[in-house]
Amino acid sequence: MVGPDEARVLPRADGVPASAFLSLLGGTGLSAYVALTRVAKLQPGESLFISGAAGGVGTAAGQLARILGAERVIGSTGSAAKVKHLTENLGFDAAFDYHEGHVAELLARTAPEGVDVCLENVGGEHLEAAISGVRAHGRIVWCGAVSTYNDLGRPPAAPRNLYDVVGKSIRLEGFLVREYGHLQAELEALLIPHIQSGRVKVDQTVVAGFDRVVDAFIGMLGGRNTGKMIVQLAEG
Ligand SMILES: NC(=O)c1ccc[n+]([C@@H]2O[C@H](COP(=O)([O-])OP(=O)(O)OC[C@H]3O[C@@H](n4cnc5c(N)ncnc54)[C@H](OP(=O)(O)O)[C@@H]3O)[C@@H](O)[C@H]2O)c1
Repeated sequence: MVGPDEARVLPRADGVPASAFLSLLGGTGLSAYVALTRVAKLQPGESLFISGAAGGVGTAAGQLARILGAERVIGSTGSAAKVKHLTENLGFDAAFDYHEGHVAELLARTAPEGVDVCLENVGGEHLEAAISGVRAHGRIVWCGAVSTYNDLGRPPAAPRNLYDVVGKSIRLEGFLVREYGHLQAELEALLIPHIQSGRVKVDQTVVAGFDRVVDAFIGMLGGRNTGKMIVQLAEG
């Protein structure tokens, strides 16, 4: 049972599906918002690389970065179809499939002059690429490490260039979204009008049925989602 003091009444906004409060307007969108505005302090005119770009946090971050005035937004993702989705539907300037080579080389080819900010969702080779691809005095926001979650305590093989954080005077900073609940109203005030105008897309993959919760979770880890993976328990 959920008591009244544990429940939150969602604001109603025309053109905004209730499920958006689980994705763009929920913890996922808030993670992207905190990463860009509070940790990286992304400035208009700056360039940004987002790893795991076609997932929940990544698709929110790419679209938020545009609103915040980023000059160039680049993403990495796991398939050609997702690359197309990012560049054709979600406003990314460029994207690459990380299966096509070493991530650092793919990033260097896509952003030869480096980037000001990296939002890192993947860890391992992607974190190594972020360290090599960010400019001197750039910022890396470390949000997650999905490529390493199954390593069960084994030390990751990458990044092998961690000391470049010193050599390039990079700021590498992690965060936990649960410490930023006080920014929820700010996120809603910023994003709701853009969702209503169609500038920001609510990107979700919906799996129907409570019995498919585990499938959906494993599918998310395996990349079977674009945007936020959501399980619909019953017809709403
Ligand atoms: N710090 C915080 O407070 C906070 C809050 C929320 C989420 N997070 C973290 O943020 C990250 C993104 O979370 P999310 O909920 O938005 O998940 P998500 O990106 O929607 O789903 C995970 C994605 O990771 C990609 N992936 C899986 N294995 C990979 C690998 N070995 N290499 C590269 N990519 C891989 C898959 O896409 P591809 O098809 O592209 O491989 C998959 O779609 C996660 O690491 C999560 O733990 C942190």
